[in-house]
This record gives sequence, C-alpha cells and structure tokens, in this order.
Amino acid sequence: MSSLTVLGCMWGDEGKAKIVDFLGANADVVARFQGGANAGHTIVLEGNKYVFHTVPSGILYPKTKCVIGAGTVIDPYGLRGEMRALMKQGIDFGGRMFIDVRAGLVLPLHKELDGSTEEELGASKIGTTGKGIGPAYSDQAARCGLRFGDLGHPDWLKQRLASLYAYHDLEPRDLTCELKELAEVWEFLKPFAAQADELLRNCYLAGESILFEGAQGTLLDLTYGTYPYVTSSNTTTGGASIGIGFPPRWLDKTIGVYKAYVTRVGEGPFPTEIFDETAEQIRAMGNEFGATTGRPRRIGWFDAVAAKYTASLNGLDALALTLLDVLSGLPELKICTGYWLDGNKLPGYTPHPLILERLEPEYLSLPGWDADLGKIRSLHRLPKTAKEYLEAVQDLVEVPIELVSVGKDRTQTIVVKR
Ligand code: GDP
Ligand code: IMO
Ligand code: MG
Repeated sequence: MSSLTVLGCMWGDEGKAKIVDFLGANADVVARFQGGANAGHTIVLEGNKYVFHTVPSGILYPKTKCVIGAGTVIDPYGLRGEMRALMKQGIDFGGRMFIDVRAGLVLPLHKELDGSTEEELGASKIGTTGKGIGPAYSDQAARCGLRFGDLGHPDWLKQRLASLYAYHDLEPRDLTCELKELAEVWEFLKPFAAQADELLRNCYLAGESILFEGAQGTLLDLTYGTYPYVTSSNTTTGGASIGIGFPPRWLDKTIGVYKAYVTRVGEGPFPTEIFDETAEQIRAMGNEFGATTGRPRRIGWFDAVAAKYTASLNGLDALALTLLDVLSGLPELKICTGYWLDGNKLPGYTPHPLILERLEPEYLSLPGWDADLGKIRSLHRLPKTAKEYLEAVQDLVEVPIELVSVGKDRTQTIVVKR
C-alpha cells in the first residue's frame, strides 16, 4: 500500500506535471484533488508537448487510472474539449477516467463573474486566470453552486440553475438553451462519473499505488498563501485529504516541487523578484510564459525563507528541484536566507502582504556554472558549483532533495541516491 502526494510549493508552475509524469511510471492511479482549469500542467515526451488543465497528468500512461476528485471545480465544456483533443492524440480514456459526482461545476456565468471581479477590485486585482475558479468555489461555499452529478438529474438541474441565477440577482431567464447544452455535455462525460473517494480508498486497500497531483502551489493556498493574492482552494497536503476523501493518515509520503528559482503569474507580493537582465535571461531560457494564459511569468531568486515555510506546512519528506538547467550561464546565483524589516530581522516567513511588500531580502551569493546540464543523469556529474547550489537549498529548507530536473523531457531527471 502506498500513496505519494506531489505538491507545488511556491506560486505554481514549479514543474509538478513533469515530476508527476516521471514518478507516474510506478503509479496505478493519478488523482487531482483541487483547482480546475486554472492549472496548466506541461509534459514533454519524446518531443511531443501535452498541456493538461483538468485531466490528471497520469493519462499518458495507458493503464493508469485517472481521478478528478470532489475538491476540484470542473468546467464541463472545457473538460470535454480537453478530452477530445487528447483523444485525437491517441489517448484512450475508456474505463480508467473517473470524475467525482460531487466536484463543483464551473458554468459560463462563473467565467463572466471572474472577469468583472477583476475590474471591481481595481488596485487590488488578483490577476486570475479568468477560468471562473473563484466564483465557482464561492458558490460551492454559499451552497448555491451546482455539482458535476447534478447534470444527470434534469429536473433538479433546472431548479438549481434557476436558484443560482436568483442568488446572483440575475433576471429569470429561459433556461432551455443552457439545459440543452448541459444535457449534451453530460452525454459525453456521463461514462466517467463516479464516486471517486470510495474508488480511491479501495485502490489503496488493494495495495495499489496512488499519486496525488497538486495544482497551483502552497503560496497560492486560500488559507496559508499570500492572501488575498491566492487561488480559491487548499493546495496543501491537507487539501489532498479533503479534496479526494482520503484519510490523512493514509498520506504516506509528500514530495514538494520547487523551481531552482521562483516564478509568479498574476499580482501579489514577491520579495525576491528581480527585474534586470538576469530576469530576462531566465525568462527566455526557462520559457517562462503561463501554460494557461500565456502571460509572462515574474522571475525571482530562490526564496529559502518561503520554501522552509511551505516545506514545514506540508510536512515534506523530500524535495524535487526543477529547471536547474535554466540557471546555466549565470555568473552569480542568489538564495534568500532571511527577511529584514525596518532594521530588524524577521523570525521566519510572514504572511501579511503589506509586510511582504516592504521587507528586504538577505541573500547568500553563490558562484554559477556554465555547462549544459540537459544530458546529465547522475548527481556526481553535475558541475561542482551546481552541487553546492543544491546543497545550499536542501540545508536551508532542511528537507533532502530526491529529484533534480534538468530539462523538460521525462528522461531529463536525476534521482538523488542516498
Ligand atoms: P506545473 O504547472 O507545475 O506542472 O508547471 P508548468 O507546466 O506550468 O510549467 C513548467 C514548465 O517548465 C513547462 O514548460 C515544463 O515543460 C518546463 N520544465 C519542467 N521541468 C523542467 C526542467 O527541468 N528544465 C526545463 N528547461 N524546463 C522544465
Ligand atoms: P498550475 O497548476 C500559476 C494564480 C493566478 C492568480 C491566482 C488566482 O499550473 O501551477 P485563479 O484563476 O486560480 O483564481 O487565480 O492564482 N494561478 C496560478 N499561477 N500556476 C497555476 O496553476 C495557477 N493557477 C492559478 O495567476 O495569481
Ligand atoms: Mg502550470
């Protein structure tokens, strides 16, 4: 019996899908437990690029079961489009894709509301992905939302839809057209509807190995992230338990994924952000443009203070450090080792945006390296300064590095043997 949770531990796009895909070779089940189409998870396999938004990244393994848990929010039209595109690429979903009937629904209304919220918030806008995530989760919490399984009960669906519009103070409208479209999308998705929590617990008890695929990252967690500049779900280890209906004590191991530097898309404080030529070079080398929205990602140095906070919050057993190859060619690398505010060193991570915006990072400076890391497959072959960089990261975060990613492809991964 085993379960492994793979979480992004900064502001998303840490390379979770690459790590899930690498580790997925040993998994019987890969499950998403929170978030929705705001995720953009990229896998490169033999030169082919796949970007997943709602479909779990395990789908490329033909026998792996893929689960979309109750803690997610699903745009049924977007999911149908994503699945159809993958079917065209030869992916077979039959008998191995399971969508929990209790997952929340993202409806066109939620996407409209996502856009208008941005305008209303004015100066404090979040810079969301515009996928309707916040409004859909808000409706779930307000108990006026619709759930995936509602699509299978036409009378109930009509009633719930009418209540939803009333809740949002929208004019009563003729629902015929919307109900027809929802019936069509249900015809497509119905074969995959399941009570996924029970399925997963049974898999675990039957000795199958389960891989939980986190979306977003810990600093985007609704409760523990850089609120209000966060997403609307719980992206931490605890989120895996709630979002899939899996007992917390069955979460056997957690790997935290961190980039060798830091990126962020959207608004919000980012203490180690850099704006100079180095940022440009990293953005170009790492192709740092959002997989969902195409927005340029903000760039910064590795923040060991924030990383230690997210490692501790999630109880990480190991780290996966990705995109190390992107730092090649930089003469000097920096790692943030402390936060200063008004002449005082802060005791650790601080969650308030006003403090995060004002603080001064303290840096450890390390020499870079100039080698192409893309073909390296063992730790001892890395340049000495790259090994020193990895050692500094794991010493500061106080969690051992187990995987190092040196390129997009599944094969470009170093397993750190102990
Ligand atoms: P996720 O959302 O955490 O799954 O990450 P994304 O897919 O949004 O962004 C990570 C990007 O980095 C993708 O384009 C990956 O193909 C790419 N990537 C992942 N690992 C590596 C790596 O080690 N080196 C390089 N150069 N690219 C990587
Ligand atoms: P993956 O899974 C990076 C960010 C948005 C915005 C904030 C809220 O690919 O790592 P939302 O649309 O969720 O309401 O936006 O969260 N965000 C992400 N940033 N990667 C993601 O997903 C993200 N999902 C949301 O940019 O700042
Ligand atoms: Mg992403």
